[in-house]
Amino acid sequence: MLIRPRRARTTPAMRRLTRELEVRPSQLILPAFVRDGLTEPVDIPSMPGVQQHSLDSLAALASAVADAGLGGIMLFGVPDEADKDATGSCGIRADGILNRGLARVRAEVGDATVVMADTCLDEFTDHGHCGVLTSDGRIDNDATVERYVQMAVSQADAGAHVVGPSGMMDGQVAAIRAGLDDAGHTDVSILAYSAKYASAFFGPFRDAVGSSLQGDRRTYQQDPANRREGVRETELDIAEGADTVMVKPAGYYLDVLADVAALSPVPVAAYQVSGEYAMIEAAAERGWVDRERIIAESLTSIVRAGADMVLTYWALSAPAYLAASY
Ligand code: PBG
Repeated sequence: MLIRPRRARTTPAMRRLTRELEVRPSQLILPAFVRDGLTEPVDIPSMPGVQQHSLDSLAALASAVADAGLGGIMLFGVPDEADKDATGSCGIRADGILNRGLARVRAEVGDATVVMADTCLDEFTDHGHCGVLTSDGRIDNDATVERYVQMAVSQADAGAHVVGPSGMMDGQVAAIRAGLDDAGHTDVSILAYSAKYASAFFGPFRDAVGSSLQGDRRTYQQDPANRREGVRETELDIAEGADTVMVKPAGYYLDVLADVAALSPVPVAAYQVSGEYAMIEAAAERGWVDRERIIAESLTSIVRAGADMVLTYWALSAPAYLAASY
């Protein structure tokens, strides 16, 4: 007897019945940029369709995220160049653009969606690194972690439900957990960027935040060649108290994502990053790929590999593309 798997594909209804997963809007998280001093949103050339927001346009965006039933919104701050310093102070001050953005968004949406903050210094330092530097120009891991604790507490004070340490310093999750608890923020959750690779796929993001970085992040972000190390970093973050762990980038790291999903007792996130976004938009603009189908397929693949939630710049538009693709 010939085995005929095609019987499961005979009609749309049969395919719907036998489909193993559908990506829900509640699994999608929109990353968003808020820039100091803007009155109107500004387009980001290398990320067509994505903008740097004013406080007002950010609030409107957050309310659209809540209305669409998305999982959350992750905020990144873009300060004035003049406010950057060696230790990223304007990322921690209550009147810094990221904390003002968080307060505004939280006031707008309340608990209707999850308000998240990127907890990292790179947008706010004049040298563009994710940490503070020693006198000879190297990253000072432990001094950086102290700044992250202050930053996370300031973000929780501003209204973040979730803080997202993305700087890949050793011990950052445990220190932030202790700092949040000491400040009375026991309900604020940590989304740990656990397996984060030193990736060229972050290129357009650095335009989006006006990064000042010279050089690279290879002494703290992981070597793209290292799969087991991604598992080890994740296990450490879980032991340190991470509520959710993340793999980043997503689409080119599905092996790491599958490994992490297999071992993780906590929810797993994946970040479909700026370069993954830009490449698809650029190819689609040339008519070389079917934009909506490829976006739906890229997200389906990330969830199939094991992500419980996905950060994606297409979070608001993707649910329609996904529905049309089934
Ligand atoms: C660090 C951070 C980066 C991204 C998210 N958080 C940049 C980096 O590590 O260089 C990249 C996100 C993207 O490329 O979409 N604050």
